[in-house]
Amino acid sequence: MAREVIHDVLILGSGLAGLRAAVEIARRVEGADIGLVSKVQLMRAHSVCAEGGTGAVLREDLGDSLDLHAWDTVKGSDFLADQDVVYRFVEQSPKEIHQLDRWGLPWSRTEDGHILQRDFGGHSYPRATMAADKTGFFEMQTLYDTLQQHGGCARYDEVFASRILVNDEGRFLGLSVIDMASGEMLTLRGRALLIATGGAGTLYGFTTYSDTVSGDGLAMAYRAGLALEDTEFIQFHPTGLIPSGILMTEGCRGEGGYLRNNQGERFMQHYAASKMELAPRDIISRAMMTEILEGRGFHQDGELDHLQLDMTHLGAERIHQRLPLIREVAMKFIGMDPVDTPVPVRPVAHYSMGGIETDIDGACTAPGIWAAGEAACVSLHGANRLGTNSTAECLVWGAICGEKIAGFLGEEPGLPDLPADLVAAEESRIFEGLLGPGGSASPFEIRHQLRDAMDQHLGVYRDGASMQQGLDKVRELKAAFKDVQVEDKSRVYNTNLVRALELENLLDLAEVAVASALAREESRGAHARTDFPDRDDDNWLKHTLVRQAGDGLDIRYKPVAITHWEPVERKY
Ligand code: FUM
Repeated sequence: MAREVIHDVLILGSGLAGLRAAVEIARRVEGADIGLVSKVQLMRAHSVCAEGGTGAVLREDLGDSLDLHAWDTVKGSDFLADQDVVYRFVEQSPKEIHQLDRWGLPWSRTEDGHILQRDFGGHSYPRATMAADKTGFFEMQTLYDTLQQHGGCARYDEVFASRILVNDEGRFLGLSVIDMASGEMLTLRGRALLIATGGAGTLYGFTTYSDTVSGDGLAMAYRAGLALEDTEFIQFHPTGLIPSGILMTEGCRGEGGYLRNNQGERFMQHYAASKMELAPRDIISRAMMTEILEGRGFHQDGELDHLQLDMTHLGAERIHQRLPLIREVAMKFIGMDPVDTPVPVRPVAHYSMGGIETDIDGACTAPGIWAAGEAACVSLHGANRLGTNSTAECLVWGAICGEKIAGFLGEEPGLPDLPADLVAAEESRIFEGLLGPGGSASPFEIRHQLRDAMDQHLGVYRDGASMQQGLDKVRELKAAFKDVQVEDKSRVYNTNLVRALELENLLDLAEVAVASALAREESRGAHARTDFPDRDDDNWLKHTLVRQAGDGLDIRYKPVAITHWEPVERKY
């Protein structure tokens, strides 16, 4: 029987949202016993890859305002964001920036010492608060240092959670986890859980995500009975480097970079003349795919067709100061120096606007469970997120969830009983099922086919017939997974096993995302259907909610909170 370890609270995921929550709990609860669980080492959380900046209104003296940030976010969301949530966000994000400044984050500065901000797509004011183009790295490091100063936490690095344990009322009981270093299965108990495991970007082959981002928290929450919201809205960032998909930050365009087609033309003039390369991502990605599909992309045998990101007019000094990582990546990965050569880019899977349904405080419908950051859907981004609003969201709802969990712990809820059969069933699923004899399907082959299907059927543009093929394929792969073979039967660092568990998660999430997309018969934000090209507020101004129902899906809808602005036509 799995060894049991008890903490006050478990935080699943050690990225920005998880760390920010841990700091908040540690500040508020003297001697808080926090268990921080991550399948990677702490500083390898995908948040370290965040490049361009964190969105916040810092210069009301120069004309920026909370109302303007809120309006940009709501319009950017194609009016699917909950507007009360947006206001909460814009009010809190400046506080987070100043808090990180006090905790020692080395923000880039103006000559006169103000925190430097640059332009980003869809924002009417430069509010991408930056540490050159390594913003996520410095935010992570600052939060980690701060957490250490507050007494730290129990760390479970390289520990893979396989199941969220809940009782019949949905109350959180604990986590079943596998310590990868020893192969031991543990039961971590806690009175509260924060899910902060990030998105599900490795559903795709061409993606900016680290290979570790496989939607584990979302899939486990779904199987524990929670609803997944708005998962059809998957963001394609306009500038993924060819051929790897590595992110070329929007900061490149924020600093003045251009997008050009094979005629040398800045084609955005035909799609968003007032914003050009700084239109929101959904609009630029649609424009880029149109250019490529109509033959104005660059073609090279064996590679994805692409366009060019041209920074050659910016000058070496600006690129060295503001985009050093971008230059290094382009030189190391494709041997091109953006100082004097345009780099090849195309839209790339980058972010899940959807996630685990939460209320405005990050609380899930299951007692004792919160979710924050990309794993959550607090309904901030609606159908299309603005760049910089995700790291800001991680900080804001990391702090809010930390505060709420601290309050919950203060109410001294007891630790509910954990039925032994729940743990035994999970042990048997792993050790006798996946690690047992039998099975003939290769998890790597299934994963490969899944990514191909997602690239092909749920891309920037989609239509009903293609999505139906995608859904059939995902279901075929889910069936194949039932006969999966984990070749390596050993216990220590069994990455074969972990890959299989990740794949199981991705398969569930793919089914939910494609089914949600197929059901939504309109185009809105990142969901661009060629068979339903217009937004349809009469029928579709609503959030999608999907729950597991036996072997199938239960799809429902809930209203959008419209507290300030009625939807209008979106023009840039
Ligand atoms: O382009 C970027 O640096 C990405 C930022 C974001 O997704 O918020």
